[in-house]
Order: sequence, then structure tokens, then C-alpha cells
Amino acid sequence: MKKWNVASVRASKGVEKLGCCTAYDACFARLADEAGVPIILVGDSMGMTMLGYETTLPVKIEETLSATAAVARAVKSAMVVADLPFGSYQCGDDLAVMNAVKCIQAGADAVKLEGGARVCGLIKRLTEAGIPVLAHVGMTPQSVNEYGGFKRQGKTREAAEQVLADAKAVEAAGAFAVTLECIPAELAAQVTASLKIVTVGIGAGPVCDAQWLVMHDLLGLNEKVPTFVKQYAHLASEVRDAFSSYVREVREGVFPE
Ligand code: KIV
Repeated sequence: MKKWNVASVRASKGVEKLGCCTAYDACFARLADEAGVPIILVGDSMGMTMLGYETTLPVKIEETLSATAAVARAVKSAMVVADLPFGSYQCGDDLAVMNAVKCIQAGADAVKLEGGARVCGLIKRLTEAGIPVLAHVGMTPQSVNEYGGFKRQGKTREAAEQVLADAKAVEAAGAFAVTLECIPAELAAQVTASLKIVTVGIGAGPVCDAQWLVMHDLLGLNEKVPTFVKQYAHLASEVRDAFSSYVREVREGVFPE
């Protein structure tokens, strides 16, 4: 099986739509990889899915590095993208480059960071340093305090123009793909048509070049999911049932035999 890389992701535009997802450990990363997921994101969504926080903001670079290393050890063909957590690239570009280097040394093939025009200088520096960047515009969860909640972006004409301008700016700065999160489907379609790089939508309608889903949402490990999510399994109830059968069988002396 071929290993996905920047060139093959770029070449997929207009040819093949990519169903991509997050993973945060070796077990699920191996299963996603074996199933043919082309890009696995070690998302800072781990703060909410794995660590029990209300937002992604408390995730630390050390947590990203350890999860990235676990995912990279398990994967043979997927591209592994490490999501730079809040605080790891806001305190100066030198520190940001150093943290991105650590992600690559942990096994990532690329990094993702949030922001449009304001992070273009950093995107340029990273790509010049040989670190591929997947950008992220629209609703950027690390700005949750600025928005006052995880709110859909790009709804007014001005806001839509800003999202389009940000997407064009990150492309010009060297990003090989861009996440479009929680923006109107028509705007995502317009951005996708305006860019040469791959757009990876999440809550941004069907016209993007690729899609993300958070692993816990797609597998039904999270029972409460955003409306745009499709659950391809309902593992929460299966896992809960397995745990309760085990507890009951031990209590009743059925297991071990
Ligand atoms: O951290 C994350 O899960 C994300 C999503 C956009 C996929 O950034």
C-alpha cells in the first residue's frame, strides 16, 4: 500500500475525495490505517475526546507529541498530521518552528495550525524549513473564547469574504491543504473552487475535496454529536454493554470458568 504524502494529497484534488479522520493512539490509528484512511490527524480535539476538557485549549505540546508518536508507530500508509495545540505557536515563530520540528521528530508527516492571514508568516517559515503545513480557517476552535462558543463562521457577506481571503492567503504562504470548519456549504464550495490546494471540510458541506470527522463522532463513541456528523457505528453502547457483562459475570462467578 502506498504511503500518502504531500504530493499524493495535492494530486487527489478533482480526482478522488478523501475521507480523513482523527486518531490519538496506536490501536485506533492502526485500524483506521488498515481501513485505508488517507490522512490521520492527531487533533487537539483529543483535549475533549480523550482528556475530558470542555475545549481544546488545555492540550499541551507534550500530549500532542506522545499521541503523535503512538499514531505514527501504528500507521503504514496514512499521512500523519500533528495538530499544533494552543500556546505552541502563539509565543513567537522560533518556538513554533521548534515545536513543529518536535512533531516531525515524533513521527508526523506534517503539522496543522489554526488561522488565516495572521499565521501566514509562520506557514512560510515552516514550509521553507521542509515542514508541510495543513492550514485551518473558518471556525477555529482555539478561538472559542473570542467567538463566545463553538459558533459557525462566515455567515455574513463580510465574514465570508474574510474566510475566502484567509484561505487564499494560506495557500499563497505554502500550505498544501486547508481545513474549512463549520462554514456555510456554499462558501466552502466557493473556496474549494478558488484554490488549487485540497480543502478538508468539517461541517462545511459536501463540496470540499476531502472531509474530516473526529474519530469519536464517526464511531459513535461520543453519543452527543454535532448535527453534521454521520455515525458509522454506535460503539458507546457496545462498549458499555461489554463492560457491564464482564462486571456481572465476575460477580456471578461465570468468568473466569
Ligand atoms: O482537532 C481536530 O479534531 C480538528 C478537526 C478539524 C478535525 O482540528
